[in-house]
Amino acid sequence: MSGFANGTSSLARELRDAGIDFRLDEPLSRYTTMGLGGPADLLAHPATVADMIKLLALARSADLPVRVLGAGSNLLIDDAGVRGVVIATGALEEIHFLGEGIVEAGAGVHFPALVRQTAARGLRGLEPGVGIPGSLGGILTMNAGAYQFSIGALVREVEAVSSEKGDKGRVVLHEKEIDFRYRASSFGANLIVARVRLSLTPDDPLAIKRDMNQHMRFRKETQPVGVKSAGCIFKNPPGDSAGRLIDRAGLKGVSVGAARVSEVHANFIVHEGRARTKDVLALIEAVQETVLRETSILLEREVMTWSP
Ligand code: EPU
Repeated sequence: MSGFANGTSSLARELRDAGIDFRLDEPLSRYTTMGLGGPADLLAHPATVADMIKLLALARSADLPVRVLGAGSNLLIDDAGVRGVVIATGALEEIHFLGEGIVEAGAGVHFPALVRQTAARGLRGLEPGVGIPGSLGGILTMNAGAYQFSIGALVREVEAVSSEKGDKGRVVLHEKEIDFRYRASSFGANLIVARVRLSLTPDDPLAIKRDMNQHMRFRKETQPVGVKSAGCIFKNPPGDSAGRLIDRAGLKGVSVGAARVSEVHANFIVHEGRARTKDVLALIEAVQETVLRETSILLEREVMTWSP
């Protein structure tokens, strides 16, 4: 038995005692939009922020590596899976409407569902992001965006959990203390988003819904929707679009194994269910090499990768 395996079985006992839901040797392919990836030694589903803090403290004292899983929509997991603990945020799914446009929501809330609920209540702000298939925590951490929409401008306050050794756990950050950059933020493995307070603008629900549907229609015309993918694979280089560069290099439809560059948008890698993560990684490298050779631009990966 490896050290990690020993650690996870004693952690399993402690989680059972603490009433925190978990699974051992859980296949992660079920939890990613790419539908790929091997098992996690232990996958836990804390139902409250307090449980998340407890879980992190237990994992830390057992010296186990910890990773955080939202909707798994920007994530490639190794075929061999990952050792240690994966914290799934999906059970942190409460949404509270606090009046005057203020909405408080858990990190595990599915973003498109939050967009629809706020629109139905006549709250404007999130509708350009309706097609972003992430969790709210993932959207904040990655500072995901679409069509000039960026969540940063709407965030008032974030309750996060620090996973640093020696930290007490809960941290509350106000808008001015949070750094949002292109596809990056103050949050990540060391500071895990737990709950978010957003400030939206009251407006006519029908007008918001009309805009939301228009964004969804446009996305369906320009991106592969309804096939297995992990969103855009590469960040856009300054002043250009990675999709345009990959397309111009003639790479649409190029494949490794069952993974192929989307014919709809070249910055997406898609498959019909039979690919392996290693195929996707090999295709990413092949795309990077060709684009570098043809344009002298080295594309930087946007998609996150987990290896054992
Ligand atoms: N283009 C091509 N061929 C392609 C794809 C795009 O020529 O295969 C051209 C388009 O015609 C357009 C330009 O490239 O002239 C830009 O394309 P698009 O409007 O699709 O935007 P993008 O820069 O490729 C970014 C984000 C997307 C986001 C869209 C819409 C990144 C890496 N990508 O894509 O975000 O949905 O804008 O706002 O920032 C993601 O991050 O996962 C993602 C999908």
